[in-house]
Amino acid sequence: TSMNERMNTTEIFDGIRFPGFLHTLESLKAACSFQFQDTDVLLVTFPKSGTTWMQQVLSLIFCEGHLWPIHHLPNWARMPWMEQASFSSLLSKLNTSWPRLLTSHLNAKGLSPALMKSKAKVVYMGRNPKDVLVSYYHFHQIAGFLPNPSSFEDFADEFLEGTGFFGSWFDHVKGWLGLQKDLTLLFVTYEELHQEPRSTIRKLSEFLGRTLGPKEEEIILEHSSFSFMSQSNMVNYSLLSKEIIDQSQGKFLRKGVVGNWREYFTPELNEKFNAVYQSKMGDSGLSLPWTM
Ligand code: A3P
Repeated sequence: TSMNERMNTTEIFDGIRFPGFLHTLESLKAACSFQFQDTDVLLVTFPKSGTTWMQQVLSLIFCEGHLWPIHHLPNWARMPWMEQASFSSLLSKLNTSWPRLLTSHLNAKGLSPALMKSKAKVVYMGRNPKDVLVSYYHFHQIAGFLPNPSSFEDFADEFLEGTGFFGSWFDHVKGWLGLQKDLTLLFVTYEELHQEPRSTIRKLSEFLGRTLGPKEEEIILEHSSFSFMSQSNMVNYSLLSKEIIDQSQGKFLRKGVVGNWREYFTPELNEKFNAVYQSKMGDSGLSLPWTM
């Protein structure tokens, strides 16, 4: 099948829609029976929560100041997505002087049984879902493998219903954070990395058992900044063709701020969003750090 034909296909796995351009049923299933090693580090996010940013930070934490991978390897080759069709090939090429650094957007229900058979470390990155929604709306406009939303309002409804690609944000966060006692998991937010990058990077390094020298810390801060990443072909997705991600109308590294949702939400949508958030998250027992 041609790239164009595959671009609009959908895989449904465990009731959740995935873009068929990147995933196959086999690749989705394979991720769920992956044999983790105790030394593996897995980054888990719902899309648009700062995945690429954390991939950059984690690779910087492990590269010990040797920036060759930062300048020469795209993020998906440094930290491949486990559920994607390209995974086995990318996995076999990973740098063996580091722990294996992996990425996933899968739900806890699918991936956690395999994970629990190991002591692999999990970094779960979350973001205020209102900002996730706005970022995801724009991403649907530039990603060739996702349908163009008819309107922001309709897209917001789909997000609240949890019927969009990659499933429900609410289930994703509840599922993973509900496993904090069963996994070696660090919960980090987009907001804290934004507001307190230095202490967040220290917290991550400590969790990962890496001690950073002062110079290393500066290198990490510089190379994970929005301005550096916007200009870096290895993390700004400019290596992909226009058919896959078309950045002529909008950039992948779009705004990189906290609270951009305020420019998009009507008071009505905000009320509706808060009501759904309350009904889905209110009894979760999780205290989440966002100001809604
Ligand atoms: P916006 O669309 O709000 O700008 P993901 O990698 O999970 O798809 O997330 C993409 C979001 O992370 C985008 O949000 C992007 O701009 C933001 N992002 C990426 N790198 C960043 C950085 N260094 N600083 C702040 N935000 C960053």
